[in-house]
Amino acid sequence: MANHPTARIGLIGAGFMGRCHANAFRTAGGLFDLPAAIELACLADATEETAAANARQFGFSRSTGVWRDLTSDPDIDIVAITAPNVLHEPMALDAISHGKTVYCEKPLSTSLESANRMTSAVETAGATTLVGFNFLRNPLLKCARQMIDAGELGEITAFRGRHAENYMATGEEAHSFRTDPEGGGALDDLGSHIISLARYLVGPIGEVSATLKTVYPERPASNGSSEMRAVDVDDMAHAAIRFANGASGTIEANWAATGRTMDLSFEITGTKGSIHFSQEHMNELHVWTSAGSAGRSGYLKIETGPDHEPYGSFCPAPGHHLGFNDLKVIEVAELIEAHVTGKNGFPDFAEATRVQATIDAAKTSAETRRWQAVD
Ligand SMILES: NC(=O)c1ccc[n+]([C@@H]2O[C@H](COP(=O)([O-])OP(=O)(O)OC[C@H]3O[C@@H](n4cnc5c(N)ncnc54)[C@H](O)[C@@H]3O)[C@@H](O)[C@H]2O)c1
Repeated sequence: MANHPTARIGLIGAGFMGRCHANAFRTAGGLFDLPAAIELACLADATEETAAANARQFGFSRSTGVWRDLTSDPDIDIVAITAPNVLHEPMALDAISHGKTVYCEKPLSTSLESANRMTSAVETAGATTLVGFNFLRNPLLKCARQMIDAGELGEITAFRGRHAENYMATGEEAHSFRTDPEGGGALDDLGSHIISLARYLVGPIGEVSATLKTVYPERPASNGSSEMRAVDVDDMAHAAIRFANGASGTIEANWAATGRTMDLSFEITGTKGSIHFSQEHMNELHVWTSAGSAGRSGYLKIETGPDHEPYGSFCPAPGHHLGFNDLKVIEVAELIEAHVTGKNGFPDFAEATRVQATIDAAKTSAETRRWQAVD
């Protein structure tokens, strides 16, 4: 399909992420010099009513309660998928078969087999893809990556990573797509983020030894219901990991982390220095290098500013801070660039499939109680 000078967006899902995507699509053109204008063409949601009401609020000109009408619409160029995980594959496959660029939320799908099918379809069709690992858009993570690549931390020896939140921290939070045995659980939901981050900063993970734990064996069937239903997925996952480059470490995915709201955090240790970061303070990167003189060494706090591209597209002054939604705006700018050039953005479906392979290996390891190579 020839790239239209206007990128006409079809967004599926009007929940937490749908709202975040819509905000990014509305905002990106005002902050970035994009190669195509963004048009909010159509919003699909589970019903005609919720689709119409949210389309009005988000600024989409059309709406539908039937997502296949959107994925097959010839007047749409980019399909953005923010529906429950189990719907990612059928939605993406249909969009790809209609020649669309596909922007899909994480995790890419519910299993490695499914992710492989999606990536094969992309390769066959030559489609352009991007996956919503938005935390990688933080300019400070790019800074960390540059420091690692330049050898400022020496040889990387260890990674300790965690994505911990508290939105399922009691047994009162109800079932949702997040507890669907097909593609649910903390490892899929949050582990996908910390694995993508580990891969981005340190490299491929070669093998894992994981343990999964269900803290609350039953939860209300739905919000406000007194009927309790069994939980078949993990509330927390812990894994020892070995990277292909020899570094070792741990990852944790935990949605029952009492007191934690957004602790997507890591510490990376190298032979000459180390860095640590938490998304709860996403404008701060803490760096220690052995360059400090005696009595003057310690962690340096680097704060986001115009020197960290693309912070300057949001604000010319340091210290004013980026927020979570800004990461999605940066991601959408990358998406439009990828769509127009026809080159995949990062992370694309192939990279997200490698993340899925790591999740899969962790699950197998937890079942067999053995180290498991990542396929
Ligand atoms: N990147 C991130 O930081 C991040 C954060 C949260 C969620 N997510 C991902 O985004 C996706 C959605 O999560 P959420 O928190 O927005 O969920 P949500 O429940 O808030 O929203 C899901 C939306 O999908 C709609 N939907 C359900 N079935 C549908 C169907 N058949 N057709 C059309 N629409 C349908 C629902 O009506 C709802 O509006 C998940 O894959 C999740 O993992 C990513």
